[in-house]
Amino acid sequence: MTFRAKKTAALAIAMSFAIGNTATAEPDLDAVLVINDELEMVTITEAPAHLEGALDQAISGWHFRDAATRRLETDDFENPAFLHVEQGLTAWETVEGTEGESCASCHGSIEESMKGLRAVLPKVNADGELWSMENYINDCRENRMGAEAWGWNTAPMRDMTAAIALQSRGMPVNVAIDGPAQPYWEQGKELYYKRHGLLDLSCASCHEENNGNYIRADHLSQGQINGFPVYRLKQSNMISLHNRFYGCVRDTRAESYERGGPEFRALELYVASRGNGLSVEAPSVRN
Ligand code: HEC
Ligand code: HEC
Repeated sequence: MTFRAKKTAALAIAMSFAIGNTATAEPDLDAVLVINDELEMVTITEAPAHLEGALDQAISGWHFRDAATRRLETDDFENPAFLHVEQGLTAWETVEGTEGESCASCHGSIEESMKGLRAVLPKVNADGELWSMENYINDCRENRMGAEAWGWNTAPMRDMTAAIALQSRGMPVNVAIDGPAQPYWEQGKELYYKRHGLLDLSCASCHEENNGNYIRADHLSQGQINGFPVYRLKQSNMISLHNRFYGCVRDTRAESYERGGPEFRALELYVASRGNGLSVEAPSVRN
């Protein structure tokens, strides 16, 4: 998109949000994310082939946040998500349900058994269904532990997904989009470009065509999901990916899809694939 076209689209969005002031600003692409002084993350990479003509580079949302927010993610002692990771690690060892099992009693150490998993989710399960991490966790709780399923957007679920995701931190996102995943990927892509709501905006209207621009006080990123689950300063809490999707659809004044439902799982696969090659950054910090 040319600069002029980009500006015009930005203005159209700004007007539909009833704000008069649209600023353009480039994200700080020179910043380098090194965690705990040792783990260097890939936060910018060549966009995957399927995005040819749409995006040249995949850029982590980290670059679009201000310096103070970015810094919180560089040190696990300062990253507020780690209190939640601790809760998740405790739950991993806790016996629950009628079968007298904990996650650890079957899976052993979370560091070994869950390493690499975040990078390849969502994926198609043995029954041909596309599952997110939350589906796998609840399947074990209900069918292997005899425990109650956790709500998709509840604290214990977010804490567990944070603890599991951490075991893949620094590994490249690498979701499969071919074979049995392909129809789900197509469905997700359609949702990504579909215009929603009274404002008639698609995910692409904001995150593909206008990343780098401001909307209200927010610096629009590419909407990448390599950092999820995320600690949001605004909510002083972890938020799940589907909750973020939910909020973004609702902001277009549309009825949103269900968290955990088939639409958002397909969208999750498609959006993850737009960031194939970025490091898993979870649990990240955003404002
Ligand atoms: C009774 C044994 C048992 C318990 C208890 C258990 N799981 Fe599982 N879990 C399994 C088995 C078996 C699989 C399937 C492994 C496979 O297909 O490779 C699995 C799969 C998973 C997967 C998907 C792994 C992958 O590579 O696809 C996740 C995530 C998971 N479990 C998380 C948990 C969590 C979190 C808990 C505790 C809340 C838990 N499990 C409790 C046995 C168990
Ligand atoms: C009206 C503009 C708008 C639309 C349309 C929109 N978003 Fe967003 N989205 C935002 C803003 C603003 C933020 C917060 C700043 C940022 O990270 O871009 C955000 C954040 C996100 C994030 C968090 C990124 C991170 O690094 O933490 C994801 C993921 C996301 N959006 C996905 C989507 C998806 C998928 C859709 C389509 C269903 C969508 N958004 C539609 C405005 C929008």
